[in-house]
Amino acid sequence: MRENFKIKSGSLVVGDIDTLDLVDRFGTPLYVTDERIIREKIDRFKKAFPFADILYAAKANWNLSILRIMARENLGSDVFSDGELYMALLAGINREKILFNGNSKTSEELSMAIKSGVKISLDSEDELFTLAKVMEEDKDTGGFSKGAKKAEVFFRVNPGISVDTHPKIATGLIKSKFGIPTDKIVDAYKKTLEFDDIVPVGIHSHIGSQILDISPYKETMERLMDIVGKLEEIGVDIKYVDIGGGLGIPYNAEEEKKAPNPEKLASLIMPIFEDGCNELGIRPRLILEPGRYLVGDSTILLTRVNAVKDAYKKFVAVDAGFNVLIRPAMYGSYHEMAVANKMNGVTKETYTIVGPICESGDILGEDRLLPVVEKGDIIAIFNAGAYGFSMSSQYNGRKRPAEVLVNGDKVDLIRDRETYSDIYGNMVIPPRLL
Ligand code: LLP
Repeated sequence: MRENFKIKSGSLVVGDIDTLDLVDRFGTPLYVTDERIIREKIDRFKKAFPFADILYAAKANWNLSILRIMARENLGSDVFSDGELYMALLAGINREKILFNGNSKTSEELSMAIKSGVKISLDSEDELFTLAKVMEEDKDTGGFSKGAKKAEVFFRVNPGISVDTHPKIATGLIKSKFGIPTDKIVDAYKKTLEFDDIVPVGIHSHIGSQILDISPYKETMERLMDIVGKLEEIGVDIKYVDIGGGLGIPYNAEEEKKAPNPEKLASLIMPIFEDGCNELGIRPRLILEPGRYLVGDSTILLTRVNAVKDAYKKFVAVDAGFNVLIRPAMYGSYHEMAVANKMNGVTKETYTIVGPICESGDILGEDRLLPVVEKGDIIAIFNAGAYGFSMSSQYNGRKRPAEVLVNGDKVDLIRDRETYSDIYGNMVIPPRLL
């Protein structure tokens, strides 16, 4: 939120650094992350769940330096692709605490997961059989010696529970593509018993993202513990119970009032988890996979005003569009804004802030009350740390922006602005067209 950041002489400050200096130095659009906010959020999460494994959801923001912070904080990671796995390992995240999730993994991804020694959450029985085949083939080709490697797997259960969030990011509904229905999950585990080198060790679920009303986690935890009981009956020893991520953050003042926090989540689910474990006489570890909560409000997107236009309504055209931050266009998400160089501006006007992309839907904020905006001003877009850069694209042939990390008075570039060669670098003109 905006309260995370200070104002000095009318301009917006991140850590001890004036955003206008950052813009002079690194240009726009620019993602600016305050490391201290991330560290505080991690700390709070750890304190609320002292005995759990926290697997940061890399998809929220997989910049190498961000993943490095997670590694330094001894967090694990939920990865959803070979690329995220590669990055998590590169950042030094402990492989024991990496879970490879995903609903459509390739044989290559499964093979990479096994060879990297990370755990895998299987999304279907088909995926189990693909994994078995991959393990057989890898043995034949000397990928690893027979019996030397075992795959430790979870299954993702889809509990069929609805949550109050944007329908595109609710993942535990009966119509969602993720996971195995509750009534079929025990059978899926039974199938693993056919394979000596595939060991079921955990159960996974993730009911959605940006969850503000956390009550559905209660039912999810009950469901998970109920399944764990059934699995123990068939001889499956569950060592990990993973309730996923999804804890929401406030994007506006209204949400501020009802925003959850890790402590509230802990007091809702821990008693069910602990009672369940006591009843069954088992001691599995609880896993959580927060993404947005840890990084969402740590980051501001700075974008420069190219033009102000008094048309049928007042438009402010900036240099970041849905190529840089897709959330408003994709989910109608609200991101608070300010004019970074006019933080004390009094006279206000209503503007619609639009990007440079050749589509009418390229709107970052509609009808926003801001101090009078002029060409050259810098608009700050808040809460851009989760699913901001990580969902960016080169649409319209636009180079992706730079990212900087601020810690107090220290500023570091953590991703260079792209150049034209990043746009055409992978393209090839066939000789017949030369
Ligand atoms: N675990 C799994 C298996 C997930 O699929 C996700 C997010 C998470 C953890 C982390 O969820 P979080 O704590 O960040 O809510 N692009 C959307 C959000 C998509 C979330 C996808 N899965 C957005 O911008 O709102």
